[in-house]
Amino acid sequence: MRGQLKKFIEAMDDNSVAIIPAAHEQTRSYDTEYKFRQDSDFWYLTGFPEPDAIAVITKANKVSYTLYVRPRDPVMETWFGRRQGVDGAVKNYKAERAFPIDKFAADLGKILDGYDKLYYRFALDTALDQQILGYFKGQRVARLRTAYPPHTIIDPTPIIGEMRLHKSEKEVALMQKAATIAAEAHILAMKKVKPGMNESQVESLMEAYMRDQGASGVAYNSIIGGGDNATILHYIENNMPLKDGDLILIDAGAEVEGYASDITRTFPVNGKYTKAQREVYDVVLDVQLKCIDFTVVGNTHQKRQEYSIELLTEGMKKLGLLKGKTKDLIKKKSYMKYYMHGVGHWLGLDVHDAGRYFVDQQAKQSKPYAPGMVLTVEPGLYIPPNDKSAPAKYRGIGIRIEDDVLVTKDGNLNLTQKVTKDPDEIEALMQKPARK
Ligand code: GLY
Ligand code: MN
Ligand code: MN
Repeated sequence: MRGQLKKFIEAMDDNSVAIIPAAHEQTRSYDTEYKFRQDSDFWYLTGFPEPDAIAVITKANKVSYTLYVRPRDPVMETWFGRRQGVDGAVKNYKAERAFPIDKFAADLGKILDGYDKLYYRFALDTALDQQILGYFKGQRVARLRTAYPPHTIIDPTPIIGEMRLHKSEKEVALMQKAATIAAEAHILAMKKVKPGMNESQVESLMEAYMRDQGASGVAYNSIIGGGDNATILHYIENNMPLKDGDLILIDAGAEVEGYASDITRTFPVNGKYTKAQREVYDVVLDVQLKCIDFTVVGNTHQKRQEYSIELLTEGMKKLGLLKGKTKDLIKKKSYMKYYMHGVGHWLGLDVHDAGRYFVDQQAKQSKPYAPGMVLTVEPGLYIPPNDKSAPAKYRGIGIRIEDDVLVTKDGNLNLTQKVTKDPDEIEALMQKPARK
């Protein structure tokens, strides 16, 4: 049993059972599927890579760990790929026992009967929800006489989320690998980009590099936005030609054994920032560096967000985008016109990773940073192309700078520092011939 599962079991109440499902394959079109990606919680607890599995964990007088998995099947495996089967689930993934997934429905009564509490997350797997609801429906009458269904259902997500928030050394090593590969892909893009290239070519060369270096692929759909495409936060069409004189914003990360990196760099297509581009860039960079320094033990997530808003509002005033007293502009949320997202998020198996942002949501008590947490730091300014109130020279400029930062005991470590964000260094790098 992996350490992460052991820890989860420690957090379970006595006399309880947990049902944790794997992801399913998703249809892409007709009879073809998207490339399979395991559910992050399931992967975190079991490390089992296949779809259509279910982990059943019980904690009573003794602990048990059962996996329901797709059975071995020579015909299916010839058509669709190898399977671990029940033997592989026990031998290679340390389940105490394993059964074919088809048996799960018939076993459900036996699995749940006699436990006080069920750990299960509804609304993740609708078919499984129906089976579990069907069990409870069936037990309504029987429960007083012969059956003993759980009386409490607990969503395990907050427990697993809290665990996922604090990365182990092994997890940090994987995240560092994902970060380094993505950083190098950004360096490659800086060396290759030139006017006339299409955004899609940049996307493909970066993804090819990541996979070549051992990533399973990108951690999310890359954002490759030339010119004012950079002012669309989730621009993923990535199919326009890059123009001389424009900036390109690249938000792309790699995935390594499920762990994400998440990097954004914004640089000139022709290798030289214009004066106006540089003015906006310098404001964002200054805020980003200060917010990285702020990502340390002793600060909270909420405080960091407020800090970024204050700094960016000052920056917007300096650029002439906003006028007035900083306090009033913040109160009226005027900054939202140009800075409308968070300054960062947890990062891990999901790019927007699991784990709560509040210790106490009612009291609005934000989570303090602790060693082992990984966060992005990604302030940005996005000036719409048709914004008549902005100085003309800034219209259509979108800039974000994003790094991935590990909180440590006595500071932090920037996992993505390999790719420079210093504008002079970027310009110098773009003059050099491409490596490949
Ligand atoms: N790439 C998504 C984000 O930066 O949050
Ligand atoms: Mn991000
Ligand atoms: Mn990003």
